[in-house]
Amino acid sequence: VFGKVSKIVCVGAGYVGGPTCAMIAHKCPNVTVTVVDMNAAKIAEWNSDKLPIYEPGLDEIVFKARGKNLFFSSDIPNAIAQADLIFISVNTPTKMYGRGKGMAPDLKYVESVSRTIAQYAVGPKIVVEKSTVPVKAAESIGCILREAQKNNANLKFQVLSNPEFLAEGTAMKDLANPDRVLIGGESSPEGLQAVAELVRVYENWVPRDRIITTNTWSSELSKLVANAFLAQRISSINSISAVCEATGADISEVAHAVGYDTRIGSKFLKASVGFGGSCFQKDVLSLVYLCESLNLPQVASYWQGVIDINNWQRRRFADKIIAELFNTVTDKKIAIFGFAFKKNTGDTRESSAIYVMKHLLEEHAKLSVYDPKVQKSQIVGDLESVVKAQDVARLVTVETDPYQAALGAHAIVVLTEWDEFTELNYQQIHDNMQHPAAIFDGRLILDQKTLRDIGFRTFAIGTAPDQAYNLFGTAGY
Ligand code: UDX
Ligand code: UDX
Ligand code: ADP
Repeated sequence: VFGKVSKIVCVGAGYVGGPTCAMIAHKCPNVTVTVVDMNAAKIAEWNSDKLPIYEPGLDEIVFKARGKNLFFSSDIPNAIAQADLIFISVNTPTKMYGRGKGMAPDLKYVESVSRTIAQYAVGPKIVVEKSTVPVKAAESIGCILREAQKNNANLKFQVLSNPEFLAEGTAMKDLANPDRVLIGGESSPEGLQAVAELVRVYENWVPRDRIITTNTWSSELSKLVANAFLAQRISSINSISAVCEATGADISEVAHAVGYDTRIGSKFLKASVGFGGSCFQKDVLSLVYLCESLNLPQVASYWQGVIDINNWQRRRFADKIIAELFNTVTDKKIAIFGFAFKKNTGDTRESSAIYVMKHLLEEHAKLSVYDPKVQKSQIVGDLESVVKAQDVARLVTVETDPYQAALGAHAIVVLTEWDEFTELNYQQIHDNMQHPAAIFDGRLILDQKTLRDIGFRTFAIGTAPDQAYNLFGTAGY
């Protein structure tokens, strides 16, 4: 039914669709890749010199392939009509209304794309869900497409699940050299053929033994479980960071010692102010919701604990700042270093910075933010979603220079692990702050001893306070 794939269309030109299609176009010169989006302004940016997302290595590949075998377009009907294979790569945010509010992913965009495909398809199409979706979403997509098939014998659809595992900031590396590619499909002859065609696309650059094929539901569930396990490791180490602060153990030493066990492994054991990003919280909540729907409350509450620890870690860090600044931050200037949810991205979705700053703003602190990649409008908009706009206007300033942000401040709070924060002149920064000046390292990137020698009071996640420098003992929580 399905011929060799030579035209690929991706619906959704976001953090997933854009980089993924750029890589496919780069690695498969014989395949034409067209990325479409209903947001025409975004498509215009993809066609300009300044791409809508920042991702190391992305510009280079896009500028090379664009206009040759990589196209960005707003003409969704035409693109769908031409395609052999269609990726659905639209957003699936957590629902903020109705049933499953705050838990279930919102599938309205996925459904709307499915209906658009049903409307404009001619001939056989392989439809691939790339967005992270709840288990059995392929079933809903298939149902809508089968309805169209009933009225038109020329139409043939197969729905595959091919979840994306790229992480922001390293997307191009992850895409070029993935640990694995996962493809789920039906075990019917047409299903197997569709899977084989998508395998063939990836085989252009991924070794065959790293391409895993499974049934559709295993593939969908594996994506949720992979993200839940990664998030769980961070909540596990963050829970232990509190034990370290109370005992004198050091979280970096503990993580190193524990991670050396090959059964455990060393990655994703970095204590922090809490995980952020568009995936972890959303996918863990989606898993919790799934388990509740399946009447498995014990499993649901086990995974809910991952989210609870993450929120607690953010709150705990903010409380520590307040306690160490003599239990009041009212009208005190505090410099915030970093707003993105991790380094090397301008993305702020679910960033812990939003929540730590919310707690500090509720105490009427004056916050001066510096982030090398996040625009002021983004920072203000994110904060306005959790704090009254008039308070944001009154209490928050955004600087384009870290020295300016720290000028006259009582404390610096590091919330994103940008490399440049390790290279600043902290002597100069200290000289221009209020004294005693404090640094709260929520990312464990700064050298505590150097800072203390300069005269800073320091506090780092998972590290017991140094009594010699900590004037007020373990103030606290
Ligand atoms: C464990 C630790 O592995 C070891 O490092 C520590 O020093 C002592 O505790 P042990 O209890 O001897 O060692 O055996 P282990 O192989 O870890 O298995 C423990 C239990 O977990 C067994 O009942 C085993 O069947 C079970 N298990 C292990 C699973 O159910 N699934 C697994 O994937 C692994
Ligand atoms: C994640 C998954 O890694 C990726 O496979 C999936 O496709 C999408 O979700 P992403 O959210 O882009 O990717 O970034 P990731 O590097 O996983 O970091 C997520 C959050 O966890 C960040 O806030 C990061 O700072 C934090 N983190 C990560 C820690 O706090 N400690 C760690 O050890 C690792
Ligand atoms: P992700 O991180 O999953 O890639 P993004 O929000 O960055 O999420 O990107 C999703 C993109 O999908 C957005 O640019 C949005 O405009 C687009 N989109 C959502 N629904 C549709 C639709 N029905 N048709 C076309 N594009 C859509």
